[in-house]
Amino acid sequence: MLQGRRVLIGIGGGIAAYKVCQVVSTLAKLGIEVRAILTDNAQQFITPLTISTLCRHPAYTDDQFWQAIHHRPLHIELGEWAEVILLAPLTANLMAKLVHGLADNLLTSTILASTSPVLLAPAMNTEMWHQQSVQRNWQLLQTDMRYHAVSPNSGVLACDHIGMGRMAEPTEILSYLHSLLYTHGKRDLVGKHLLISAGGTREHLDPVRFIGNPSTGKMGVALAQAAMHRGAKVTLVHAPMESRLLSTLQGVRLISVVSAVEMRQAMLNAFTEADWTIMAAAVADVRPTEYSVEKLPKKSLPQQLSLSSAPDIVAELSHLRRPNQRLIGFAAQTGDIFTPALEKLQRKKLDAIVANAIDQTDSGFGSDQNQAIFLDHEGRKVAIGQCSKLQMAHHLYDFIHTMSGRSFIPE
Ligand code: C5P
Repeated sequence: MLQGRRVLIGIGGGIAAYKVCQVVSTLAKLGIEVRAILTDNAQQFITPLTISTLCRHPAYTDDQFWQAIHHRPLHIELGEWAEVILLAPLTANLMAKLVHGLADNLLTSTILASTSPVLLAPAMNTEMWHQQSVQRNWQLLQTDMRYHAVSPNSGVLACDHIGMGRMAEPTEILSYLHSLLYTHGKRDLVGKHLLISAGGTREHLDPVRFIGNPSTGKMGVALAQAAMHRGAKVTLVHAPMESRLLSTLQGVRLISVVSAVEMRQAMLNAFTEADWTIMAAAVADVRPTEYSVEKLPKKSLPQQLSLSSAPDIVAELSHLRRPNQRLIGFAAQTGDIFTPALEKLQRKKLDAIVANAIDQTDSGFGSDQNQAIFLDHEGRKVAIGQCSKLQMAHHLYDFIHTMSGRSFIPE
């Protein structure tokens, strides 16, 4: 899906240009064709040689502005060539030019000569970022459906100030670019609120010991990213997971829980506002009946654990839902993934279920890849071969969109 796809990167004059090298390098290693334009000011920070080496293609500067490729002006050729454009770092100056539709150099002319979606990744000094003029321009740009935004975050800036202005990290930019290559910029989830659960719950026996499972939450995070990139409002209820994963979710409402009981409460609280709920979390089925507030000494550990059932969250949500709410579950399976998933779909009265194999290499728990079969309550069955979890998330949203309006009506 990514091999041979075409991404154009416009690099502005800011120190964050060094982070763009990482983006270029990762894209090229994935087999994506990358072309880059450096503004005059970008070349104060990094050189065309750096970028051309990383993208295995000459980098463009204003020296080539009036050069023709195949007898056509370069900006027209590049503008038509690009499937997706990334502008990073987007400087205050470049932002102002975009707002006014200026075309005074190769980069700005190429943007106007293209109709492709553009991802904006601003970076600048905090005082510059907070200027009314800059904020006004930033808001204005986001009213144009062509422009997608990864907002800067807060931290120590190269000018030693602490505050807003740091460019989003390469991982966040890369996942947005992958989404844009998949969706071509469509925002078909605007106006929808998605409630997603992620990660493996922990059922504690005492403060340090718990019953858990190997879920890392990557699938739920990918679902949240893909939904956000398609314009949804997203709430993610997540069990403990690496903060690195959660840091890619700016704009998502995050609710952190530990146990199945806590996850149930958080899901119930958020459920009424949700249009689509996707239960990707690996929720425990049982929990220790007893909990000790103090760490149990080794000699006091029970030889046999007394267990109680954990709440079946998705089954409970299914009883509570309104007819227009969509409810999708996951079934992590070994061996035959189809039969048990179908049984869960029917027993828990879901609209759809994602049966995913956890006994294959490069799929399921902890992997960046997945493979699955989507089943819906009308008997549709779609098999998705191995792909990234982000791509799997997009396939799932396409599948939900094509489901009939009719859903299980609670009895
Ligand atoms: O664990 P199981 O395979 O039954 O999970 C199927 C679906 O049910 C998943 O979507 C999971 O998040 C959900 N589930 C739940 N509460 C449980 C167990 C599973 O909501 N206690």
